[in-house]
Amino acid sequence: MTETYFYEPLKGHGLPHDPFKAILTPRPIGWISTVDAEGRVNLAPYSFFAAIATFPPMVCFSSDGKKDTVSNAEATGEFVYNLATRDLAWAMNETCAPLPHGENEMIRAGLAAAPSRLVKPPRVAATPAAFECKVTQVIQLTGADGEKRDNWMVIGQVMGVHIDPAYLKDGRFDTVAARPIARCGYRGDYAEVSELFEMFRPTA
Ligand SMILES: Cc1cc2nc3c(=O)[nH]c(=O)nc-3n(C[C@H](O)[C@H](O)[C@H](O)COP(=O)(O)O)c2cc1C
Repeated sequence: MTETYFYEPLKGHGLPHDPFKAILTPRPIGWISTVDAEGRVNLAPYSFFAAIATFPPMVCFSSDGKKDTVSNAEATGEFVYNLATRDLAWAMNETCAPLPHGENEMIRAGLAAAPSRLVKPPRVAATPAAFECKVTQVIQLTGADGEKRDNWMVIGQVMGVHIDPAYLKDGRFDTVAARPIARCGYRGDYAEVSELFEMFRPTA
């Protein structure tokens, strides 16, 4: 058997760049809108993002350090997931700028906001789909040594789903037409969903 390139992350990877995020690809981008206790809007991308339950539908995102999105979600108990697409890629990237707390990244990125129905944070009006979520847990992550780390996971239940009818074809969400983007590899690497293939689960 060929010997693998093996490293233990806490001791260093020995490569020019950390391969961790280049291996775990593609990562869907949780483009998360929140408001703070004063109602000021915040929007930021999180690629440590996943669907984690079907019924009730739940999603989670995770932050390296307690960033504004986590603080706002914790303070208000609400967030909105916006689908990041190829058409919105530039704007999505603009919203990761480290603006001072309370400054609205939607405005900086030239994005119009649309009101949500069940939660206070607005949606990105131009996104093909968005989930209105209520926070169920905010968890400070613990390392293998049992020590609390400055990493924060927010779990939310999807209470409402918006779909732009332009992306509904024969009752199915047209993923390829929406062209979702995902985070890949190293600095600046992304993938775009432009093609699907079908494979069905085996029967007994
Ligand atoms: C595509 C993309 C994905 C990102 N994913 C994460 C992530 O998963 N966790 C994280 O802490 N920061 C992530 N960032 C960086 C945050 O978006 C950035 O720190 C932002 O300023 C946080 O904003 P906030 O303080 O308003 O929440 C990502 C940036 C980009 C462009």
